[in-house]
Amino acid sequence: MTTQRRDFLKTAGIGAAALSMASQTAKAAANEQITVGVIGPGGMGTAHTRLLSANKDVRVKYVCDVDDNRRAKAAELVKSSSGKSPEQAKDMRTVFDDKEVDAVFIATPDHWHAPASILALDAGKHVYVEKPCCHNIREGRLMSEAVARNGRCLQVGTQSRSTRVIEEAMQRLHAGEIGEIMVAKAWNSQRRGSIGKQQPSDPPTTLDFDSWVGPAPLVPYQSNLLHGVWRWWYDFGCGDMGNDGVHDIDVALWGLGVDSHPSSATCMGGKYFFDDDQQFPDTQYAVFEYPVDGNPQGRKKQLIFEQRIWSPYVQEGYENGCAFYGTNGVMILGHTQGWKMYGPRMKLLAENAGPVELPRHHANFLDCIRGTQTKLNADVKAGQLASGIVHLANIAARVGSVLHFDPVKEQITNNDDANALVRRQYRDHWSTPNRVG
Ligand SMILES: NC(=O)c1ccc[n+]([C@@H]2O[C@H](COP(=O)([O-])OP(=O)(O)OC[C@H]3O[C@@H](n4cnc5c(N)ncnc54)[C@H](O)[C@@H]3O)[C@@H](O)[C@H]2O)c1
Repeated sequence: MTTQRRDFLKTAGIGAAALSMASQTAKAAANEQITVGVIGPGGMGTAHTRLLSANKDVRVKYVCDVDDNRRAKAAELVKSSSGKSPEQAKDMRTVFDDKEVDAVFIATPDHWHAPASILALDAGKHVYVEKPCCHNIREGRLMSEAVARNGRCLQVGTQSRSTRVIEEAMQRLHAGEIGEIMVAKAWNSQRRGSIGKQQPSDPPTTLDFDSWVGPAPLVPYQSNLLHGVWRWWYDFGCGDMGNDGVHDIDVALWGLGVDSHPSSATCMGGKYFFDDDQQFPDTQYAVFEYPVDGNPQGRKKQLIFEQRIWSPYVQEGYENGCAFYGTNGVMILGHTQGWKMYGPRMKLLAENAGPVELPRHHANFLDCIRGTQTKLNADVKAGQLASGIVHLANIAARVGSVLHFDPVKEQITNNDDANALVRRQYRDHWSTPNRVG
C-alpha cells in the first residue's frame, strides 16, 4: 500500500475495524427481508421505489418526502407493486428512529445527501445515497468518518460500478490491453433547457419548503428552484458536472486507476450560452493532475473533463462518455451503452455493448447488508473521490485559478478564497452535521 493511500485511509478513518463491524451487522439470515425507507421519491427516487417495491426480498416500510403530492404518489406505487401500503413520513427522522428499518435510499437534492446520510448512519442504518454523494469536499470527509464510526454499508448511486459491460472494460484496461493509461477524459455533451428568470413567490401549499431547504441558507422560494432544477443553484446542487458528469468522472477515475484526490486542478468555464438564473457553468473545461505518489508506475496521470450543455449532438458517439488514452491504444466508452477499444492506427481490438444495470447495483448493496457479498461496488471512498473532482472544478471555475490541493488534508493551499469553498455555509438547523468546522 502506498504512503498516500495509507494516509488517505487513516484520515478517512476507514480500515479493517470498520469493515469487520460492517460484517457483524449483516442480517443474520441471508433470506431475511430487508426493511427500507425511500427518502426523496422524486425523479430518481421513483426509479428506486419502483425497483425496491417489486423486489420480494425487500419491504418498503416508508416513503418520505416533503412534497405531499410526491409522497402520496410514491405510496401508491409501492401499494400497486407490492400489495402493501407503506407508511408516509414527511420528516426523515421518523424513518431513522424506527428500529425496524435496516436501510434508507436517499434521493433528495444534493444539499441533503451528507446531512441525511450522516444522521442515518448514526442511527444505525445502512445507506444508499445518490450521486454526487456530497455537496462539497468537507462533507465527503464527514461521510467517510460516519461510515467508519458506525460500521454500516454506504453505497453511492453511481450504477456503472455494477454494470457488467463497464466492469469488463475496466478489467481489460487494468490488465494492460492498451498499455499504461496515462490520461482519461470524461465529457458531458447534450442540450439542456433554460430555467428562465423568476421572482420570489409563495411556495405551493403541498410543499414544506422550509424542510426542503433544510441545512442550506434559507432563500425565498421561487418556482425555478425545484423540482429537479435545484441542481443549477450553488446552495443546492453541483451543476451538470455533479449531475450527469459525475457518472463519467467516476468511470474515468476507475479506469485511470488512481486512488487519491488530485494534487492540482484548474477549470475554465462559465455561462456562455444560457441567459437565465442558473449559476453553474454551461461550458466547462477542467484538468486535474495526479501526483506520482499513489501511482504504482511512478508517473503523473491526468484527468480531463469537458462539458457543453447547449450542444444538440454527442461526442465520439456518446452523450456522456470517457476516453482512456493508453500507451498502446485508446478506449472510448459510454457508461450507459458500451465501449470500443483500438490499438495503434485505430485498429479495432474489441468492443462490447450492454445496458446500465441499476438492479445489480441495488443487489450489491442489499447483499453487502446481508453479508453474502463483502465488497460494495461504489463505496464512500469512490463517491468522495468522484465528487471531489466536481467540487474542485466548480471552485476553480468560480475563482478562475489553478488550484494546488493537498490530497490528504483536503485543503487548497494557494488560494484562500478557493479554500473557503471546500465547505459551505449552513443555517441553524437540526440536520446540520456536527464537526462541520
Ligand atoms: N443515479 C442516477 O442515474 C441518477 C439519475 C437522476 C438523478 N440522480 C440523483 O438523484 C437525486 C435526486 O434527483 P432528482 O432529479 O430525482 O430530483 P427531484 O427534485 O426530482 O427529487 C428530489 C425529491 O426529494 C424531495 N426532498 C427534498 N428535501 C427532502 C427532505 N428533507 N426530506 C424528504 N424528501 C425531500 C423533493 O421533494 C423531491 O421529491 C440527485 O442527487 C440526483 O443527482 C441520480
